Amino acid sequence: MIITTPHKPSPELEDYASSLARELGARFVPRKQESLTRLRLRYGDGRLLVADDRGLRYYEESDDPLYFHPSMAYVRVKRMRKGEHDPLIELTGCKPGDHVVDCTAGLASDAIVFSYAVGSCGLVTALESQPVLFAVVREGLQSYHTIHEDVNGAFRRIQMHLADHNDWLAAQPDNSVDIVYFDPMFRRPMHDSSSIGPLRGLANPLPLDPESVAHAVRIARKTVVMKEHKDSPEFERLGFTRKHANKIAYGVIDTR
Ligand SMILES: C[S@@+](CC[C@H](N)C(=O)[O-])C[C@H]1O[C@@H](n2cnc3c(N)ncnc32)[C@H](O)[C@@H]1O
Repeated sequence: MIITTPHKPSPELEDYASSLARELGARFVPRKQESLTRLRLRYGDGRLLVADDRGLRYYEESDDPLYFHPSMAYVRVKRMRKGEHDPLIELTGCKPGDHVVDCTAGLASDAIVFSYAVGSCGLVTALESQPVLFAVVREGLQSYHTIHEDVNGAFRRIQMHLADHNDWLAAQPDNSVDIVYFDPMFRRPMHDSSSIGPLRGLANPLPLDPESVAHAVRIARKTVVMKEHKDSPEFERLGFTRKHANKIAYGVIDTR
């Protein structure tokens, strides 16, 4: 993967792009006067991450980039600001001050909703195994600005880690967090899902490992929750009780 900047970057932006390349094991290429198409051809690599003043944009073959946008998370948080309930927050039993581990960060929509719910005395740890998604979303959470300072605060407090949750969970002590959440790529993709569309192809497609669910149960003081299609056999395979079934359902394991 190539990491570059727009034409005429500031020295700070160029430094940032080059340190990001070191962090992700990618190749930093100064942009100079080159077009993105020329860079792709010159380096024989179709994967391009461009660091600009608005954040990171990832291009793969096409000119239609992946970038961070809170989309539905912002709608859900605005409803919570008005005192409405969020189904995920309710069924996880999430309260201010909790430590939530989101094992499948993706575009961080659910992590944002959890972060708003736990507030400034709580903590959301969000794990993502795919370097491009990790970088785009970590940067977006730090720089995306809404008109609501409390919502911006919820973005900034999320602690993102580039990690496979299988390894991360196994290394945690017993009863060390409140809630563990899994939203893996569905076994049967829902092709009408506009929120997942942009990350398909980049995301880790592997099914949940029962051993990871066992570690989640060991470390969670309240609940372990998984999201899947309502007809998915994953709930039974992994020992979750299916709740709140629409097209999408949540499975809950209560560890209290
Ligand atoms: C369906 S998306 C999650 C969407 C997310 N809940 C949101 O609100 O934006 C699943 C994400 O989990 C990541 N993932 C899958 N398996 C993982 C693993 N073992 N460790 C860390 N991340 C993983 C995928 O790369 C993908 O980005």
